[in-house]
Amino acid sequence: MEKLVESVRQSFVRKFGRRPVMIASPGRINLIGEHTDYNEGFVLPGATDRVVVMAVAERDDELCRFYSLDFDQSYETTLNRLQRSPLRWPDYLQGVLDQFLKAGYRIKGVDLVFGGNIPIGGGMSSSAAVEGGMAFALNYLYQLGLDLLTLTRIAQKAENEFVGVKCGIMDMFANLHGQAKKVMKIDCRTLEFEYFPFEREDVRVVISDTMVRRELASSEYNVRRRQCEEGVKILQKYYPAVKSLRDVTLEMLETHRQEFDPVVWKRCAYVVRENLRVEKACQDLKNNDFVAFGQKMNESHEGLKNDYEVSSAELNILVESARQVPGVFGSRMMGAGFGGCTISLVEAGAVDIFREKVSADYQKQTGKEPAVHVVRVEAGTRLLE
Ligand code: GLA
Repeated sequence: MEKLVESVRQSFVRKFGRRPVMIASPGRINLIGEHTDYNEGFVLPGATDRVVVMAVAERDDELCRFYSLDFDQSYETTLNRLQRSPLRWPDYLQGVLDQFLKAGYRIKGVDLVFGGNIPIGGGMSSSAAVEGGMAFALNYLYQLGLDLLTLTRIAQKAENEFVGVKCGIMDMFANLHGQAKKVMKIDCRTLEFEYFPFEREDVRVVISDTMVRRELASSEYNVRRRQCEEGVKILQKYYPAVKSLRDVTLEMLETHRQEFDPVVWKRCAYVVRENLRVEKACQDLKNNDFVAFGQKMNESHEGLKNDYEVSSAELNILVESARQVPGVFGSRMMGAGFGGCTISLVEAGAVDIFREKVSADYQKQTGKEPAVHVVRVEAGTRLLE
């Protein structure tokens, strides 16, 4: 990471001729609890050692100058002319500025350079890292004194409103609230959360990237959201207290199954079961029982594949191959799905064999080479030095 920090810093100094504030903003993993956040359910994410590094400095006018080291592209605008860009990456920054302005916070322009090592569009929420980092930066530069939850909400709204992706709150929440060696169980209804230790040196988190990129905005994501809402509407007729799938039990679903479109029913059943799994998986973590925990990850994947239908052939190949490696506790697709990556919990001593086998199997079956990253659970968005 030091090299990355230095190259972002030097690039800033070369471009803008002054000293920046340096910020690291991580990508996230999610151990279990997928497609539950926008159903007001539970998730279990953590921040990682894969980060976006930002060099930023305040200005005393309205100008905003951005440079993306990874794309080698510049973008310039002013606070009163924020608009979506065909370059796309500036939108994650502009969207956050837009939210600060809409909320009436007193900010000026910024000079900013950023670069990172989170696989872009790979399911580790590189976009939330940019948004969370930007929210953190503005709060710091303009001394607004906003708390992490407010910054989290701003970052999510930036994505929802400016970028136009109706994502839930998990990614930004994990990005801003992460702690080293801890994952967090978030109640996505109340936004109460609890840290769980995740510190076993003999267990590694391995991210396997299909290298297939999906367009979250144009994907099935919004369709799934609508299907969940449809299920809620049906049950509300009988159970007025039901506000979201969070309030739904398997029993309710069984009782009214006939009234559901079968596809909508499957979607809802998946979400209800996944919420139950998160609760139990947290218990497994407390008991230090990674075997039981891994089984729940496997079940989560089966649900995402068969009932929620957001997996892909590539993701399934990675998961199936991973599960054949002795020393793998569990493996499943992570994030929105369709492309991106899988997450596996692997015994430290089995990581090399894992890498070899999964890469070989994937290459044989798809002709593509996957990227395999061992990641650590690290602190959330923070100032450097
Ligand atoms: C994406 C979204 C999150 C969440 C996951 C699925 O990462 O940004 O809010 O819905 O998909 O769990």
